[in-house]
Amino acid sequence: MNKQVLTGIKPTGRIHLGNYIGAIKPALQLAEKQSCDTAYFVADYHGLTKIHDKQEMKELSYGVAAAWLALGLNPDRAIFYRQSDVPEIFELSWILACYAPKGLMNRAHAYKSLVEENKESGKEVDAGVNMGLFTYPILMAADILLFQTEIVPVGKDQIQHVEIARDIAENFNKQYGEIFVIPEYVIQEETAVLPGLDGRKMSKSYNNTIPLFEEPKKLQKLINKIKTDSSPPEEPKDPDSSVIFALYKEFATSGQIKEMRRRFQAGIGWGEAKKELFQVMNSFVEEPRNRYNELMSNPEDIDFILDKGAERARNKILPFMREIKENIGLYH
Ligand code: ADP
Ligand code: TRP
Repeated sequence: MNKQVLTGIKPTGRIHLGNYIGAIKPALQLAEKQSCDTAYFVADYHGLTKIHDKQEMKELSYGVAAAWLALGLNPDRAIFYRQSDVPEIFELSWILACYAPKGLMNRAHAYKSLVEENKESGKEVDAGVNMGLFTYPILMAADILLFQTEIVPVGKDQIQHVEIARDIAENFNKQYGEIFVIPEYVIQEETAVLPGLDGRKMSKSYNNTIPLFEEPKKLQKLINKIKTDSSPPEEPKDPDSSVIFALYKEFATSGQIKEMRRRFQAGIGWGEAKKELFQVMNSFVEEPRNRYNELMSNPEDIDFILDKGAERARNKILPFMREIKENIGLYH
């Protein structure tokens, strides 16, 4: 039996290098394996917890879809869809909500960190928290469990969410028998957290990202902004604690990486290292960037692919949805 793999990305910003390295790249590698069935989606309902502007929601959703396709996702193999086009996910989300202890949601990190921020700035604890954000992990559990997913490739920050999905599934199974498959996460150990321009985790929320499909001039400018220390060019540098080297490794060949490691240890100017980084990154991204731009100017092509994907997704999950409902006594 093939393993079911599933992952989603929410449209809350432009796809950046962290998203690519942490989620898209490993997911694409799994999609190539004969032994895996893959389901990848635009998590627009998750995006709705944050994005409340119609135009922005549309553009960001197309952006996420176009990024996957431009980077090589084959929609004939992987099931590729918009979350909101599969209403059963939302239906299951309610069912699961009835098996999700509220305390589990209180501990979920997206909610918890907002509460902490509010406390620190003297605001009311739940200021700016909508119920969508609070119950976010339940919807994510529904995404995962409805497809009987075994493997969820994600970045490190999503581990807790997959664990919550496991907890909810186990609660449910305790009551009704082995209905849900218990999912596992897979993270890229080495680059589980790709650093951003300021050295913290690259994230839309920190405004420190390098958008993957940035035009060359802007890409170079952004790379030049990466924080470095003031050591002179000739001073030997530790490649393993350098953001520049961490990024370089993702796009260079093993020969280039070895050589760059040597140059770091021998002493390389930060300006020079950044130039090299730009070169490998830009040559990697050149082709997908063209495809991305083309797709973004033909959104009807994206719609066509996503609509077909949603149909395939629903065909796949409808029998299981029925089984779930039967098991809780909703059909007679
Ligand atoms: P962001 O933190 O920018 O809001 P998302 O939460 O939308 O990113 O993440 C989408 C996917 O990309 C998730 O699987 C997440 O773990 C992964 N990801 C995001 N940022 C990074 C990073 N800096 N390093 C590795 N993976 C990341
Ligand atoms: N919460 C994930 C993120 O912020 C996106 C997501 C939604 C997801 N549903 C999912 C990831 C299901 C994996 C599986 O990145």
